[in-house]
Amino acid sequence: MSHRIPDDTKRAILDAARIEEVVGDFVVLKKRGANYLGLCPFHQEKTPSFIVSPAKGIFKCFGCGKGGDAVSFIMEHEHMSYVEALRYLARKYNIEVQEEELTPEARQRESERESLYQVTRFALDYFTKTLWETEEGRNVGLSYFRERKFTDAIIKQFQLGYCSDSWDGFTQAALKNGYDKKYLVQSGLTIEKEENGRLFDRFRGRVIFPIHSLSGRVLGFGGRILNSDKSKAKYVNSPESEIYHKSHVLYAIPFAKREIVSQDMAYMVEGYADVLSMHQAGITNVVASSGTSLTEDQIKLISHFTKNLTLLYDGDPAGIKASLRGIDMVLAEDMNVRVVLLPDGQDPDDFAKAHPTEEIRQYLRENAVDFITFKTRLLLGESGGDPIKRAEVIENILNSLAVLPDKIKRAVYLQECSRLLDISEEDLLVRLNAILRKQHQKQFQAQERESLPQPSPLDNGRPGVPSSVPDSNEENLLIVERELLRLLVCYGDRNTTQLYTDEAGNDVPLLTNVCAYVVSEIVEEGFSMSDPGHQALFSIFADSLAKGSIPKMEDLLLAEDEKVRELVADLAAPRYEISRNWEKKGIFVRTELSDQHKLDRAVTESVLSFKLVRVRDMIAQVDKRMAECEQEKDELSLLGLIKTKKDLDQHKAFLCGMLRRVVS
Ligand code: CTP
Ligand code: MN
Repeated sequence: MSHRIPDDTKRAILDAARIEEVVGDFVVLKKRGANYLGLCPFHQEKTPSFIVSPAKGIFKCFGCGKGGDAVSFIMEHEHMSYVEALRYLARKYNIEVQEEELTPEARQRESERESLYQVTRFALDYFTKTLWETEEGRNVGLSYFRERKFTDAIIKQFQLGYCSDSWDGFTQAALKNGYDKKYLVQSGLTIEKEENGRLFDRFRGRVIFPIHSLSGRVLGFGGRILNSDKSKAKYVNSPESEIYHKSHVLYAIPFAKREIVSQDMAYMVEGYADVLSMHQAGITNVVASSGTSLTEDQIKLISHFTKNLTLLYDGDPAGIKASLRGIDMVLAEDMNVRVVLLPDGQDPDDFAKAHPTEEIRQYLRENAVDFITFKTRLLLGESGGDPIKRAEVIENILNSLAVLPDKIKRAVYLQECSRLLDISEEDLLVRLNAILRKQHQKQFQAQERESLPQPSPLDNGRPGVPSSVPDSNEENLLIVERELLRLLVCYGDRNTTQLYTDEAGNDVPLLTNVCAYVVSEIVEEGFSMSDPGHQALFSIFADSLAKGSIPKMEDLLLAEDEKVRELVADLAAPRYEISRNWEKKGIFVRTELSDQHKLDRAVTESVLSFKLVRVRDMIAQVDKRMAECEQEKDELSLLGLIKTKKDLDQHKAFLCGMLRRVVS
């Protein structure tokens, strides 16, 4: 039971556990000086790189990086929880574990849970016995499984069963055996009619799929109907209870966990039958989400064993669409998600039965597509070239990219998406940054604000960064302009350290202030803001700076121009605050981040983004002029334009490189 283990017992266990003995039960160790050496049990290797240090009480693999103490070794190797591992060690070293006294409520809960486990255990026995040992069970249940080509071995391994087609056969048997009606009802095995209090069996007339916990304990059941009576649900499942939390369990996890670890990969299918057929075919790193779209807890469960998840789908678009929703979450957990579509709308059950194991493996190997690519293709195919839908697809995909915690992966996917969507990488990058920024703002709002000076909390009824993906460079420009102005308004007088190139071409850090840096960077390159309102506000900063002062927010809020006042109020609203969680999300990663660093980087990034979008705009204009010149056969101008364009292209590439460096 999950009673607490008292601290001194814990200490006694940890003291007694000799790491070389604990590991030595599973790994052949050879003495090497003060340490032991062996083949790592956590990854495939031919030359040993797994070291055990008795002096330090730890193990460490220099191949795969796994390491820890005796408890974590057992947890990892035996897939046990912390408490389970402690109990294991206690048994090994003959240490008596005295359970700590529980509070009355805790004891009550514990005993309720225990009672639920007991009726569930009874039901499991009852259903399997019914399947194998009664005439109805054999004729109806067992012959159903056999018709579906499940072997006796797999039926036994998964403890499949049958519940006879009588009103309350199971319930009566359970009551006769002394099980409390209360727990029969709580576990959902028995349903009590409200009107007359009559009891009947939830699973009557169904074949039974027990649902196991990680350690192999039965938590609940799924029951499948045998005929195709459309008026009845194909499956009924145990309801939520103290022991069964649907969103926490994965069907078949105890039978799959070893192979998942050894393959470092898990297949996820939808149904019970799919799991059974794959296991029967010898592919055992397979679990099912059992019809729910994946939950965060299910993913946490898988991620103990592997970061590589492959989803197997029959080709049904509706089903796929439904499951897409859950998957950004998987990406956010930093899992590598791939997708395999099975041919001709076959589900894994059909497919596994129709092909020999080697062919299945080969198909899965050759047809796995990374998730982002899969999603892009699927949605793009659906958009059918409709520009509005296409813009939605792009936003959708970029949102998936934005949750990826790994910036290298994000960069790789960005390339791939650029190809698939036929949109330049820079464009996607600018848009992705806008989404990321928006996320930080949202996240920030949910948290208490500190770290950077607070702009006064003003009314912010108007939309800020456009929520749909901008489809033109003009909209990109508006976004980056706003970001620059926001920095000026909120942090204009703050110090910032930025790189300047000296005469020898070296980058040297110089201390300046945000206003001076932003204004000089924009003005020196002859840029202006595309939006007149933006330009008006920007000019206030530029003029003020020329007179040696930096406009204060209070003054800006009183500016003559009403448009400017509104803009300032909008920009100063807290949702534009720089999140102090930037580094936590690993999105703008730098070691030793301080608030100053965040500000410095935000300034660098915004200036670069602005320039990049501006330069792209200029390139577009040059392209247009070139086309005109070609028409007019104005070769002299054309020559000049070609040179200009080359310079701009170079500049663009340079900015792109810089921006990538800042963002990743
Ligand atoms: N499911 C459910 N309730 C339903 C239908 C489905 O709980 N009414 C869950 C079950 O866990 C089922 C999974 O969703 O295994 C997938 O559904 P489906 O593909 O319809 O079932 P299969 O397992 O493929 O069943 P079979 O092949 O036996 O028809
Ligand atoms: Mn099926």
